[in-house]
Amino acid sequence: MAASIGPSARALELDVTDASSVDAFCGAIEGCRLLVNNAGGALGRDAVADADEAQWTWMYEANVLGVLRVTKALLPKLIVSGDGHVITIGSIAGIEPYPGGAGYNAAKHAVRAVMDVLRMELLGQPVRVSEIDPGMVETEFSIVRFGGDEDAAAKVYEGMTPLTADDIADCIAWVATRPSHVDIDQIVVRPRDQARATMVHRSSS
Ligand SMILES: NC(=O)c1ccc[n+]([C@@H]2O[C@H](COP(=O)([O-])OP(=O)(O)OC[C@H]3O[C@@H](n4cnc5c(N)ncnc54)[C@H](OP(=O)(O)O)[C@@H]3O)[C@@H](O)[C@H]2O)c1
Repeated sequence: MAASIGPSARALELDVTDASSVDAFCGAIEGCRLLVNNAGGALGRDAVADADEAQWTWMYEANVLGVLRVTKALLPKLIVSGDGHVITIGSIAGIEPYPGGAGYNAAKHAVRAVMDVLRMELLGQPVRVSEIDPGMVETEFSIVRFGGDEDAAAKVYEGMTPLTADDIADCIAWVATRPSHVDIDQIVVRPRDQARATMVHRSSS
């Protein structure tokens, strides 16, 4: 991706679940005006009664503590920039809990709380805090969620038109390019075929 952008882009390794990786990544960045917290995802669709603690731990590590680690480390640079912006990718799972989603729901609800608090704590500082909460987007998300089971992942989008990664990139670009005094707190964006996390219109053909 960096190569396709050209010499102004640089790719660096980052594992948001590993504090030393976050330190190395953030240390290698001279300045930061815009941080997009995108890393994350879901594992499993088990009911609470059958919850797999290791899956819950990963979801919390990647979606919540990852956002905390990177945001905390880059906050001084965002403030010094004089026009900083944190955009975090949450999910409608952070607004609408659904059966089988408790671990992911809990993690994305937590992300929303962190972003809300951050906006209050940064009041008076030159940093905006925005959250984009997508519904169904066809990426590798469902393949990861179902442990590599591509058939199970394909069924998620069967007979409906999901959002694409480009649709979410459009939202991020729009939020990031508003004038500095305009803070888009939150965007909830879903496919026309989805009214709630579990209410999806599917055509039979
Ligand atoms: N797809 C959806 O329906 C949907 C809906 C609402 C919200 N979201 C959210 O959108 C964000 C992007 O997900 P996606 O749909 O693009 O899923 P995806 O295709 O599985 O991509 C997940 C991304 O997160 C990165 N990532 C995972 N763990 C990481 C870690 N420990 N450190 C650094 N990067 C890590 C992955 O990097 P590697 O490829 O290098 O592992 C990948 O770039 C996530 O926060 C997800 O929760 C997705």
